[in-house]
Amino acid sequence: MKNVLVVSYSQSGQLDDIVAALSRPLAEAGINLHREALRPAPDFPFPWPFFAFLDAFPESVRLDPRPNQPLSPSLQSLPVDANFDLVILAWSVWYLSPAQPMTAFLQSAEGKRLLGGRPVVSVVACRNMWLSAFDTIKTLVAEAGGRLTDHVAFTDESHALATFITTPRWMFTGRRDSFLGLPPAGVDARQTAGAARFGVALAEALSRDGEKPGQPMLSGLRAVKVAPHLVLSERAGRRAFQVWSGLIRACGRAGQWRRIPALALFLIYLVLLIVTIVPLNLILQRLTAPLLARRVAALVSHYEQPSGAGSARMTVPPDCS
Ligand SMILES: Cc1cc2nc3c(=O)[nH]c(=O)nc-3n(C[C@H](O)[C@H](O)[C@H](O)COP(=O)(O)O)c2cc1C
Repeated sequence: MKNVLVVSYSQSGQLDDIVAALSRPLAEAGINLHREALRPAPDFPFPWPFFAFLDAFPESVRLDPRPNQPLSPSLQSLPVDANFDLVILAWSVWYLSPAQPMTAFLQSAEGKRLLGGRPVVSVVACRNMWLSAFDTIKTLVAEAGGRLTDHVAFTDESHALATFITTPRWMFTGRRDSFLGLPPAGVDARQTAGAARFGVALAEALSRDGEKPGQPMLSGLRAVKVAPHLVLSERAGRRAFQVWSGLIRACGRAGQWRRIPALALFLIYLVLLIVTIVPLNLILQRLTAPLLARRVAALVSHYEQPSGAGSARMTVPPDCS
């Protein structure tokens, strides 16, 4: 019997629903699943108070996360060589970086012990900007000794401008329903249910030791869809976030009042960015598209690895998955 470890952190339950849909076919195939929900100490609030949300920014970007509580006793008591055949990491994005609980897990001695030498499948669910965070996840998984074989991304497919309103409303009130004619926030039910196809493919691969060669098991299932207009924006955003996170950390530690003025300045920057730079950048990218086409195509293909954007193995058309 194969053993699969699923490590996740979800505040609203969105990622939990995706993990449940993906896990069901594995359980039905008789695979032994261990679900580990990460528990930061103390946990991050949800819905978020406004300044707590901003205050999570510098440490998320600088990969200096709040630690997690110890893992569940059954995992801690496993012998060092106890074998999980596969590890699934389900994570969300905070400020173009992996959410702090997943960063803390991957940096921890426990995380390294559990990932060492094992194939790893990454599953992200976020608003729509996961590219930079995925670069970071690849580095953290490699540093923990894991071998990343697959990556699957779930995003909010509503118009980006709508999500600039619906996502913060969801984060600050906990409400993700449709309002003012805008679509509901987050990954929709159709996409969530479609996560089952990855569970089916993993179960099939595990049944023939397909996890062992370290090759992707989820190709042909439209594991990711990389938005070309975001690849350069994310890079620019990432560079700016490095500078801002350094400045804010120079003013004080997480939770300290001393850094509220710097966080307030960062907030003004974010709002200005969303209302001016983001639309300007989109127009500029359209105008310079022919000049940037090769560079963007190379980056798109980089971010589509390892599982790819193709849908050759899907039994239903991609839009109905
Ligand atoms: C502090 C914070 C920062 C976030 N930053 C981003 C981001 O940079 N890019 C993005 O696509 N989503 C971002 N999100 C949305 C999350 O990735 C995720 O979709 C949402 O928090 C729901 O996840 P859950 O399953 O933990 O509830 C952010 C959320 C939080 C709480």
